[in-house]
Amino acid sequence: MAASSRVAASLRRAALSSRPSPCIRNIRPALQVRWKTEATTSASTESVGQLDAKGGLDGPAPAKSIKFTSDSYPNIQRESKFAKLSEKHVQYFQELLGSDSAVLDGVTKDATEDIEPFNADWMRKFRGHAQLVLKPSTKEEVSAILKYCNDNMLAVVPQGGNTGLVGGSVPVFDEIVLNLQKMNNIRSFDEVSGILVADAGVILEVADNYLAERQHIFPLDLGAKGSCQIGGNVSTNAGGLRLLRYGSLHGSVLGIEAVLPDGTIVEDLSLLRKNNTGYDIKQLFIGSEGTIGIITGISIQCPRRSPAVNVAYFGLESYEQAQKAFVAAKAYLGEILSAFEMMDGRTQKILKKVAGTKLPLEGDYPFYCLVETSGSNTDHDSEKLQNFLEHVMESEIVADGVLAESQTQVAELWACRERITECLGHWGGVYKYDLSIPIAQMYDLVEDIRERLTKDGLLGDTDDHPVVDVVGYGHMGDANLHLNVPVRRFDKTVEKALEPYLYEWTSKRNGSISAEHGLGLSKKPYVGYSKSETMIKLIKQIKNLYDPNGILNPYKYI
Ligand code: FAD
Ligand code: MLT
Ligand code: ZN
Repeated sequence: MAASSRVAASLRRAALSSRPSPCIRNIRPALQVRWKTEATTSASTESVGQLDAKGGLDGPAPAKSIKFTSDSYPNIQRESKFAKLSEKHVQYFQELLGSDSAVLDGVTKDATEDIEPFNADWMRKFRGHAQLVLKPSTKEEVSAILKYCNDNMLAVVPQGGNTGLVGGSVPVFDEIVLNLQKMNNIRSFDEVSGILVADAGVILEVADNYLAERQHIFPLDLGAKGSCQIGGNVSTNAGGLRLLRYGSLHGSVLGIEAVLPDGTIVEDLSLLRKNNTGYDIKQLFIGSEGTIGIITGISIQCPRRSPAVNVAYFGLESYEQAQKAFVAAKAYLGEILSAFEMMDGRTQKILKKVAGTKLPLEGDYPFYCLVETSGSNTDHDSEKLQNFLEHVMESEIVADGVLAESQTQVAELWACRERITECLGHWGGVYKYDLSIPIAQMYDLVEDIRERLTKDGLLGDTDDHPVVDVVGYGHMGDANLHLNVPVRRFDKTVEKALEPYLYEWTSKRNGSISAEHGLGLSKKPYVGYSKSETMIKLIKQIKNLYDPNGILNPYKYI
């Protein structure tokens, strides 16, 4: 089919679906359907568990085949200042926490099977040797645990849903895992102000479903929502799919309740949007990745849920065109634009191959974009969307496109973006990079790395090549590229070809080596590419001030 007729045909499809029809009238008043999943809205249900090896959201990860971090990174040595766990320590925690389910004890007995899911990370790249997992139910219990650990020099890894992508959520050696999954109550919600107060261990999707019933949304959404916890989200300062619209958690989190390593409980669950009374200490906890304290509760400003949601998915002939589409989206959609995501053609082929997903468009394109609008007035949004669609189609910015006509289609289009992450690990592993790069240069890095790995003979179709592909996708609206290298096995030669090369590349363009996933273990050695000596010194001062014994999440972050 000629390009122009393809465009015309697509425009008809799009135009049809944005015209008020009985079908659309049914759809538009519905709440944002993408959040309606099987997760319960009950705030008191325990965590649904870790993601499995393929990224599924049900069931613990079989971890035995994962290499220990201590073997993969022999340069990291256990710090001798930390005590080894003994029967006496376990007895203290059992007396404190009472129930069997709150203490997984692998010190006095064999509990390997139970503990493995807490030792292995989602990417199956990092695996620790923890022998003890603690699951407190109250901030007082968290306080008593930390005080005891601090007094006895026992290292602790705070853990939420264990969906982090930088190796921060699992131990390296025998650190105790302190998992927040039992702290999962919604404490209050004020329908006038839209302020939610909840325990740190509430699953993101549970919080969002709770808010949906009250016509509000959690101002963060990401693919791991069914497993990650809001405390984990705040600790990583997660960005996600709608940062473009709702901004960073540094803006929406109003207060935190946290426990310091010495057991001090910090009560700062402010319900105020404005509070200019001294240093804003809570900001230090947002993005601190469990290094200065354990977050036990948060208060957060939640926006009103938009009744009119539209999602479009476009095929584009070049990255240049994707940039033009973004400019047009901002110009034509303005305040109703709620997401602008980019996926390269390779990610969509992988999705089709690994997940068996039927792609929304018939042709193959080198680039795809997903555009979402959320507004309060269906007619107003339809008119804006119509003008946008006409513009991008008539000016041939986009080559083909579809607009969701039903709630099911909204979910299907989003799946083309959200399910990429889980598919990339299919061959054995994936090297994941999460970079801030000026939008104009974002995709250059993907091409550069592909060329580099091909030239080095590392990328190929056969088993003797470790690298399967080099792909790019991400939150284009936030200038956040996810460069991913799916591999048949984790391989030091590949790692050396990638690092520090791509961090240098990013730094030269004044980018950031971590846009949203954080530092954890993976990025710790490279923070100097994004932070000056002075900034690193200040960060270390803060760490030492809050955690002078260094018991919280050692070997990571800085
Ligand atoms: P964990 O993984 O358990 O922990 C993460 C870090 O926070 C660790 O350092 C841990 O020690 C610390 N921590 C956890 N809870 C606490 C607490 N209560 N107090 C103190 N420290 C704590 N990230 C994005 O930014 N944007 C995305 O779009 C995105 N999409 C994802 C999609 C998938 C499929 C997956 C698997 C991950 C994705 N992530 C994304 C990664 C993201 O960081 C996590 O999903 C999430 O924010 C981490 O929450 P968690 O509860 O799983 O924390
Ligand atoms: C995403 O945007 O999908 C997440 O950050 C996870 C990933 O990088 O794959
Ligand atoms: Zn992301």
